[in-house]
Amino acid sequence: MAEKHIDTALVNAGRSKKFTQGSVNSVIQRASSLVFESVEAKKQATANRAKGELFYGRRGTLTHFSLQEAMCELEGGAGCALFPCGAAAVANTILAFVEQGDHVLVTETAYEPTQDFCTKILSKLGVSTSWFAPDIGAGIADLIQPNTRVVFLESPGSITMEVHDIPAIVAAVRRKAPDAIIMIDNTWAAGVLFKALTFGIDISIQAGTKYLIGHSDAMVGTAVSNARCWEQLRENAYLMGQMLDADTAYMTSRGLRTLGVRLRQHHESSLKVAEWLARHPQVERVNHPALPGSKGHEFWKRDFTGSSGLFSFVLKKRLSDAEYEQYLNHFEYFSMAYSWGGYESLILANQPDELAGIRPAGGVDFSGTLVRLHIGLENVDDLIADLDAGFQRIA
Ligand SMILES: Cc1ncc(COP(=O)(O)O)c(C=O)c1O
Repeated sequence: MAEKHIDTALVNAGRSKKFTQGSVNSVIQRASSLVFESVEAKKQATANRAKGELFYGRRGTLTHFSLQEAMCELEGGAGCALFPCGAAAVANTILAFVEQGDHVLVTETAYEPTQDFCTKILSKLGVSTSWFAPDIGAGIADLIQPNTRVVFLESPGSITMEVHDIPAIVAAVRRKAPDAIIMIDNTWAAGVLFKALTFGIDISIQAGTKYLIGHSDAMVGTAVSNARCWEQLRENAYLMGQMLDADTAYMTSRGLRTLGVRLRQHHESSLKVAEWLARHPQVERVNHPALPGSKGHEFWKRDFTGSSGLFSFVLKKRLSDAEYEQYLNHFEYFSMAYSWGGYESLILANQPDELAGIRPAGGVDFSGTLVRLHIGLENVDDLIADLDAGFQRIA
């Protein structure tokens, strides 16, 4: 039979009978204690506790196993560790592979708390961090040190949306440091628009809080690993007490069922808004991976199968404090909130100096106010009209 289409996989992954027990969805098995019928059963469960056998709540229940199986099928992994949020997934996945004296190489466009984890927590443990520019490509080889243990990617980059040349980065790292673990924050692509493991990346991390949950009402982190890293990741996450409650695991699985159609709409609408913005006289630049001219667009086109709904644009002018408030306070459909990936549209703005402050290399290459949009599932013409009214407020 032909390989399953991703839409079919999203609907069916993790829904085998042992998990659904006669219903459509996986059962919600809430448990700390799992009861053994006999001494022999307890012995068996203990021996197989890391292999999907019911043992103790912190190792997961049927609800978790269903989600883990689904994530492995979708991202092509050997195992999936679950975390209470994306930040926990990032921190614990890095932590699982480093020890005192090691060095990690991290993209300078990583999500700010990822950077802070490196500078504030890893540094305390004697692990050093250095940063690379998102367009580094094969040049990353020059930054690898004898003690480089982890290379951490995020593509597109947080807020400024640069796409890495991942095949070039992976090939260079493998050549110079075959044992280094390459991981990616793959949240923007929801793990399915960019199949990280097929590009030779070891671990694909997601803030499932965004597109997997998809409704802005729960938090989850996932880390799908290849076979070589799975045992170490799994046991470290377990010892760090990382687990998810069964209800959120259920909601994450439920989110998968509509992910394909949601992503298609996010792609279509966000690109339409991006194209409209690119023609707007008040706009300097649009950072949307699917828009020609955006940084790394050619890599997106080559390596990704679609776009999600998050992107940014830079205004020609730097808004004054009054204009900033006038602009942001009056949108009808765009709410101001952190996070993204839900069904609703969101807006946030950053002044260039604020952004420069979260880029380890220093400055940014623009001087106007940057606006980050998440384009939700509303009618796109309503969203464009709302944005148009915003431009008029700052004309
Ligand atoms: C790219 C990226 N990674 C990780 C996270 C962290 O996820 P969470 O908020 O679930 O901890 C976020 C949150 O905004 C994010 O944008």
